[in-house]
Amino acid sequence: MILVSVGPTAGALIAPPVVRELAAAGHEIQVLLEPGTDHFVGPGTFLPVSNVVEGPSGVPDAVLFLPATAGTLARLARGLDHPAARTDGVPAFVVPDLDAATAENPAVRSNLDVLRGDGTKILRGEGGNMAGVDEVVAGVLGGLGGPMAGLRVLVTAGGTHEPLDSVRFIGNLSSGKMGLALARAALRMGAAVTVVAANIARREPGVRWRDVGTVEELRDEVLREAGEADVLVMAAAVSDFTPAAPDREKIRRSSGVRSIELAPTPDVLRAVREQSPELFMVGFAATHGDPASDAREKLEKKGADVIVGNDISREGVGFGAEENEVYVVSGRGERFVPRATKTEVAREILDEVLALIDEER
Ligand code: CTP
Repeated sequence: MILVSVGPTAGALIAPPVVRELAAAGHEIQVLLEPGTDHFVGPGTFLPVSNVVEGPSGVPDAVLFLPATAGTLARLARGLDHPAARTDGVPAFVVPDLDAATAENPAVRSNLDVLRGDGTKILRGEGGNMAGVDEVVAGVLGGLGGPMAGLRVLVTAGGTHEPLDSVRFIGNLSSGKMGLALARAALRMGAAVTVVAANIARREPGVRWRDVGTVEELRDEVLREAGEADVLVMAAAVSDFTPAAPDREKIRRSSGVRSIELAPTPDVLRAVREQSPELFMVGFAATHGDPASDAREKLEKKGADVIVGNDISREGVGFGAEENEVYVVSGRGERFVPRATKTEVAREILDEVLALIDEER
């Protein structure tokens, strides 16, 4: 159970969405509303995913102070009374909500140093602002540990769009569901996750997010991010071809176009392998027919450590579907993951990835 102690500043407004995300990641949440919080949020805003309590029902697995006022920081640092005062050994996360002058105050800075010194995780946003929903969720899930704690996972998801003219493109049926399920699973296993999203409208909370459209954009972004990653999961459906000379304007029916010349796109996995020989790379192979043999072939060709193969000719699995059924092929053989939700399949794929990484260490 995670105890969320909500403090009385406008930053309390992000407490309900954070609580929803943590609950969605499988945690039981109890919410404690500090005095004065009712100016910003009421108990109803946390329903139905969590209980608002007077005090925690047992020793929590972690305490999150969201937001923490300068007063809360002082109380925690100096051992003064606080409604959610910590029990020794319980991980604590603090999300300070301070204006610029308060943040610079020597006493406040000293309190933050004390807290840091005793292992409290201070979650801040970019440029010293208060952390946002994604940063808090990622900080807590990552900080709670898990089998992937300490690993930085880069996931590509969705499908590329290659422009034919100013309004048309060559795309594919990838919904991004498998990639996002992998990102979510990695996050819940404690990894720090970046998603390079090709044409996905719905954002995944708790991860760093990079939007791309074309293969070239995807390749550039992945090459940029790969240097900072330990694992690349290349779940995006990447176009193999792109129109050689896309029209700047809309191609008219009257132009009588009958054929369009296509040029091959760069192979992203191979480019990444050249740049980052040490990176652990997971590729995908969507196949009509025997997925395992196609996956084995691509393992070699792409220089990947794992290829996940699936047979897209089967009903109800693969592109756009809620479920999948895959073969996870690696140097140590293949593992069949029977039909299950994409979330469950993602977890199995990452279990296999972890086992291989542990073997290599
Ligand atoms: N991929 C890539 N760069 C491309 C095309 C695909 O990195 N230009 C990645 C995909 O994201 C996937 C893996 O390579 O993880 C296999 O994709 P697939 O399209 O099956 O491979 P191809 O090499 O295009 O093989 P083929 O079309 O002959 O099946």
